[in-house]
This record gives sequence, C-alpha cells and structure tokens, in this order.
Amino acid sequence: MDQFVIHGGTRLSGRLSIKGSKNAALPLMAAALLTDQPVVLRDVPDLADIANMRRLLIELGCDADYEPADDPASPGGVLRLRTRDESLSHARYDIVRTMRASICVLGPMLARRGLARVSMPGGCAIGDRPVDLHLRGLQALGAEIRLDQGDIIARVPPGRAGKGGRLRGARIFLGGPFGSTVLGTANVMSAATLAEGTTVIESAACEPEVVDLANMLNAMGARISGQGSPRITVEGVESLRGTPPEGWRIIPDRIEAGTYLCAAAITNGDLILDNCPLDAMLAVVDRLEHIGVTVAPVADPIVEAVTRGSSGNGAARHDSPFAPDPMRTTVRVTCSRILQPVEVTTQPHPGFPTDVQAQFMALLSLADGNSVITERIYPERFLHVAELSRMGARLLRQGPTVVVSGVKRLVGAPVMASDLRASAGLVLAGMAAQGTTIVSRVYHLDRGYERMEERLRSVGADIERVNVKASEPVTTTDSCS
Ligand code: EPU
Repeated sequence: MDQFVIHGGTRLSGRLSIKGSKNAALPLMAAALLTDQPVVLRDVPDLADIANMRRLLIELGCDADYEPADDPASPGGVLRLRTRDESLSHARYDIVRTMRASICVLGPMLARRGLARVSMPGGCAIGDRPVDLHLRGLQALGAEIRLDQGDIIARVPPGRAGKGGRLRGARIFLGGPFGSTVLGTANVMSAATLAEGTTVIESAACEPEVVDLANMLNAMGARISGQGSPRITVEGVESLRGTPPEGWRIIPDRIEAGTYLCAAAITNGDLILDNCPLDAMLAVVDRLEHIGVTVAPVADPIVEAVTRGSSGNGAARHDSPFAPDPMRTTVRVTCSRILQPVEVTTQPHPGFPTDVQAQFMALLSLADGNSVITERIYPERFLHVAELSRMGARLLRQGPTVVVSGVKRLVGAPVMASDLRASAGLVLAGMAAQGTTIVSRVYHLDRGYERMEERLRSVGADIERVNVKASEPVTTTDSCS
C-alpha cells in the first residue's frame, strides 16, 4: 500500500496546469450509453475513478479505449467510447462498490435499453448518500423501479411510458434536504433526452459539471436548455448521434484547481496555474481573498496580441475565437504572510464547494484567529478533523460546524487518509508542518488527483510516494467520490 512521506516547510513556486475534471468526465462517459455512435472525450485525466468507469462501460457493452497524454503538462488524454452491445444491462456490485459514481449509468441505460440493473451504492466515509432523488426522477419519467438483491432494477413498462418503449417527459422536482443532487440531475437529464415529450427539472443542480454534460448532449443532438440554472428543460428526441469528430473537451477540474490554490497559500508560495476554471470558482476565490491570498488572472500575451489585432482598436473582443476563456484562464496565486480567519459555509454551486472544505480547514488552521466552517452538503464530512488535530490543529466540532482556532505552526505526524478530499487536506497540512508527515492510504488520492506527488514536487514540495507492505487490511471498497 502506498503512502506519502512529506517533509514540510518548503514554499511552492512554479507552474502547474489543471487537469480535466473527474466529476465532469464520469457522467460524460456514462452518456456514451445513450447512443451507438462514437463518443470521443478529450482532456480526460488519468485517474483510478476514470479507470473504474471504463471497466464498467466495457462490462455494459461499450468499447472504451484510453490514450493517455504524452505531455505530463497536458490536461489529459483521449477516451474513445462506442456502444457495441446493448443487450447487457447489469452494473454489478463488484464494480459499483469501488465507485459510487457508477450510478451515472442508470439513466442513460434505462432510456436507451429500456432496462437497467445497477447495484445500489452503499453509504461511504462522507455520509449516507442516498439515491432516492435519482429514483424519484426516473419514476416520474415513467420508469418502474424495484429493488432485488441489493440491485436497483429500473425498466420502462410497456403501456405506461411513451410510445415504442420510451420514457415520457414530465415535470420533476429534484430538491432534497441538502439542496439539489448533482449526479441525480445528470441521470434524469440524460434519460430525458430520449424521452417522448418535454421534461422540466425544477431545483436542478447548477454545477458546472452538469452544464458540461448538457452542452455535450446538445452537441450530440439533444435539446436541453436552462443548464446552469435551477430549471432545466429537455425536449426529448428519438436518438442521439455521437460527439463532433474533434471530440468533446472536458472542462478543467475546479476542485483540483482549488486544492492547488490552497497548496500555494498554505506554503506561502507563488504559483501560476494554467487551464484554471476561474469562472466556476468564484466562491473559493472570494474566501481566499478574505484570508489574504491573491488570485490574479495572468494576461496571455499571445491571446492579447491576437484579440487586439482582430478588433483593430486595441480593445479585446470577446466574440473573437481568441478571446480569453473564463473557464480556462491562467492565474497567479500569492499570499500574505499572515492569514486572516474567515467563515466558510459549503453550499450547492455557486456556493462554496464541499469538495474543498477539508483543504480550507488545513489552511485556516494556520490563520491568525478563529474561523468557522459549516458543512451544509455532508454534515458528517469531518473525518480529517481528528487527523489534523494530531498535527496540532485546534479544532472544535459541534455538529456540522467546526471552529478552527489558528495556531502558529503545525507539526508533522503519521496520519491516515479517509476519503479523497480529506486526504488532500492532510497533504496540504503536511507541506506546511514542521518535520515529517506520513499520509497513509493514498489510494484515496489516486481516485481524484493525477500524480499529485509528482506535480507538487515539480513546484518545490518535498514529497515522495513509498510503497510499504500492508500491515493493515487494505480496503478498496471505499467509494466516496
Ligand atoms: N442526496 C439525497 N438524495 C439523493 C441524492 C443526494 O438526499 O438522491 C443528498 C446527499 O446525501 C448530499 C446532497 O444531497 O447530502 C448532495 O449530494 P449529490 O447527489 O449532489 O452528490 P453526488 O452527485 O453523489 C457529486 C460529486 C461529489 C460532490 C457532490 C456535491 C461526482 C462524481 N461526485 O456527488 O464529489 O461532493 O456532488 O457537490 O460528481 C468528490 O469529488 O470528492 C466528491 C465526493
């Protein structure tokens, strides 16, 4: 089992390019089940979760060939998907338990094949994570759903749904006790593309990953509008084609970007991040600026020269194909020596993302005063609290809130990763701590951060991956992302 050994105290400085988004890629991959035409995805990161989803799609009758990027600075590789056999419809427990996001295949498979059997994902380290809203949405589209042997069996019953065994458009409310659901919206929206008639999803998730999915589906012939707002309308079509020949370029990963912004800040560093989806990160940047971290877009001299030239009057033209893309900017992050405490509350997008909460907790552990972090998406997502405390952080948890009393320094310690983002928080703390930190169970990190230790080392971190003989049982069933 691999662990990271981190010698803290070095400042990060240099340049990193953000990879394609894992959480956008997974439902985009599942969308290949909606058509028998080729779906080509670009900027696909090389991650354990992507490999798991590939494995699942292959089991469901898809060809799935991944070509990793040659250049380590590239946002990711190319994934070519094509459904060959539509008679298969069982997403088995063995695969689903390795990755909760396997649930994304439910809507596409049901809509296209009329039948889907998907193992019900269990709870995970960050909370119970039910899928009731996914099921409610698909039922509203006419699906009949029952549970058998821990599997969700969904089918389009003849007679009850639309003509020719199709789902039937409906008005659906997808709000739950913690707001909307990202993958639930992806599932229902994907299924509705092939339904008969119009579907309106109210309280839809506004996350950029849902927008990317809707945009790709539209490029494949779907008729979706309102993506990015809480009301999404889908006019069903009979069939979808594949992606355009040049493929679909996945948006950059806002959570990876947020993590590296925090890494620069916690080490008092100076980093330039390319391919940064700044437009999708306003809540994170807002909190960072309150803390005393500067995140400034860096003008690209080539883009500037071309846009000035094409407008002819020296002003940048935003309709030019060379206009800067707010989802793919270059930013420089620098930090004042004294970090100010802040309040952070996680919320659905465009609020502060729960997936950056642990990293912020590490950062605020070193602020000059008391910060308050409230978790409104997963009220139990605090497994990193005990581990950060082992490194000298002063944290007081009461229910979904943690009071973080800043300390002058953290001290290295052996700590244990518990889920993907908690692990990232521990790595950041380790880079800022005095002495040596050993983060074990880094397989959690490999689910969502491509070669994290190599990338951090390239900008000055003293971090290495070592393989140790497992002296504790290895659990590969955690499936948090
Ligand atoms: N919820 C319900 N019922 C449902 C679905 C969700 O009550 O049917 C609740 C959840 O328990 C949670 C809240 O609604 O309290 C939001 O959950 P959501 O369904 O939006 O989460 P998800 O779609 O399963 C995605 C990301 C997570 C991220 C959340 C929230 C992927 C693959 N996963 O999960 O990412 O935390 O949205 O933004 O997109 C990660 O990358 O580390 C990760 C956990």
